[in-house]
Amino acid sequence: MLITDQTSRRRIPTTADMVSRMCGIAASVLKNGDVGPVLFDCLKKLEYRGYDSVGEASIIDGKIIVKKDKGKISEVERELHISDLRGNVGIGHTRWATHGAPSRENAHPHTDCTDTVAVVHNGIVENFMQLKQELEAKGHKFKSRTDTEVVAHLVEENLRNGRSFAEAVRLAANKLTGAYALAFICTSEPDKVVCVRKESPLVIGTAANGNFCASDIPAFLSRTNQAILLEDNEMAILTADQVRIVQIETGEAVNRKPFTVEWSIETALKTGFPHFMLKEIHEQPMTVRNALRTHPIYMDLMASAINKAKKVFLVACGTSYHACLGGAYAFSNLAKAEVTPVVASEFIDGHGALVDGDTVVLVVSQSGETADTLSAVRGAKDRGATILGISNTMGSTLTRLSDVYIGQNSGPEMGVAATKTFTAQLSVLIKLAVVLARKREFLRKSELETIEAGFQQLPNWISTVLSTQQDSVRRIVERYSDRSSLCFLGRGMSVATALEGRLKLLELSYLPAIAYPAGESKHGFISVVEEGYPVIFVAPRDESYSKIIGNVMEMKARGAKIISIVDEKDGEVARLSDDVIVVPPGVPSMLTPIVFVLPLQLFAYYMSVGKGYDPDFPRNLAKSVTVH
Ligand code: F6R
Repeated sequence: MLITDQTSRRRIPTTADMVSRMCGIAASVLKNGDVGPVLFDCLKKLEYRGYDSVGEASIIDGKIIVKKDKGKISEVERELHISDLRGNVGIGHTRWATHGAPSRENAHPHTDCTDTVAVVHNGIVENFMQLKQELEAKGHKFKSRTDTEVVAHLVEENLRNGRSFAEAVRLAANKLTGAYALAFICTSEPDKVVCVRKESPLVIGTAANGNFCASDIPAFLSRTNQAILLEDNEMAILTADQVRIVQIETGEAVNRKPFTVEWSIETALKTGFPHFMLKEIHEQPMTVRNALRTHPIYMDLMASAINKAKKVFLVACGTSYHACLGGAYAFSNLAKAEVTPVVASEFIDGHGALVDGDTVVLVVSQSGETADTLSAVRGAKDRGATILGISNTMGSTLTRLSDVYIGQNSGPEMGVAATKTFTAQLSVLIKLAVVLARKREFLRKSELETIEAGFQQLPNWISTVLSTQQDSVRRIVERYSDRSSLCFLGRGMSVATALEGRLKLLELSYLPAIAYPAGESKHGFISVVEEGYPVIFVAPRDESYSKIIGNVMEMKARGAKIISIVDEKDGEVARLSDDVIVVPPGVPSMLTPIVFVLPLQLFAYYMSVGKGYDPDFPRNLAKSVTVH
């Protein structure tokens, strides 16, 4: 599928052409036996990550043999018999982030011009366009549109210059920017797998009959429970009886011993967390970073479309709608753009009469398959609107119906309640608002710099909240676990945070929780408040701070118990509160929901677990709501 810039009709690669972020990697070097069945088994264990193409490569009689295609593992097995692949060194891959028509060419492994090297990849090579141009100028011929293939050609260049396999990979890795876990085989040293890690996960398994590397421990756990975690900026050279780890930058040796994995496969899938929801909450430093990596081309295309439009709507359901509320606030405050957020099920009835060829509808959906959202999209398309999509699912109906789409790259979300996908959607929307603001030249340099620096800091802030506040949130939940209702209040950007905190609590612990813009609370809700009623305030020290102090006092005066989420340097709100959860200071106002929502996700999680419910599977809810 092509995404075409509407104005110049120039062809640009789709996001899916370029990335395959949440893919699964497996590689193996065996003393005895063929890798085909081993890799097949490893890939089956990685199926839970979600994928649409599968491939394996090995070395047989000095030649690289690749078997790959689109489809499920069982389908590709039926067609190509990947489990029959011979040879004792091989790499395998499940590719996820592809669009409606995944292709054999874009499936991994990828090879160089001479079929000397094969590579599989999980991540994104951000500078691949520039590298590809340089390689093409040197005569390299490309067979796919992936970012990954440039890596095979870079290694080929280095081999041609007389480097060893490992050194050729190391020098190639030093040229890459972005995130990657890569595994290679090479015909000039057919007894090795070389693998590299920067920001994408990669784990090594050591066994009596050989060694493995994979995206996740479950891939090899049935064969060995001895694992070594590769750290960022490290690479490993695997032979059947040795694992050598070195720093990518310097080539310096790293000494690391295997540890024993005590988990069952089930626990390993949750990487040791008791529930997928908690695992996904903890993935947010990475998923927010991934979301912010969206290629500037797509951001720019979307911002241009919004800039030209006469009317702009932000349309979604549930948690995605809450992300739209935050997004709309950012569009208005940063880029002075009027963007109307509307719940998808109300969109055509309430706003259809306004939708025409001058309208842009920016649609947000984790699954890309929500029936109400798709109805709104179809209704808007029929009226001539331009559809911009943000989704976590490449190839979903939303991405197929969109004129331009962006993948939020959060990886599959297994917990029914959306957590990591909310913060990723917000990250994309706020970044888009910043791109539009730049285009419109509305932001002062200092404001832009503060937000850009904030984007960089977000993963650290998220890690800090998760590592320092989890226990205190659990203790606070214990104190309020007998209440039959709670209320969440926030102002400005924090209205979205409060609504999302309420939705999480409501759907996971079945409590009829309430959420309001704090200023609105005195127009009705306040009558509910009596002695001991818990009110959670989302209170960053932003432009709404002085007003929220007044709202806290109103609630306190009526006997409410105040739980506040404040920044570490807070004085007044913290002083008025019965329970305080702190986040790091200095989060720019527009980015606060991404940090302040984390304690609320944990709050809902612990409330659900405390009541004996399963937070991964709340009653009556489906991950993707495909009915109206
Ligand atoms: C809440 C939740 C739902 C979804 C909603 C939209 O935790 O998961 O409210 O956000 O059903 O789903 P998507 O984003 O797939 O369109």
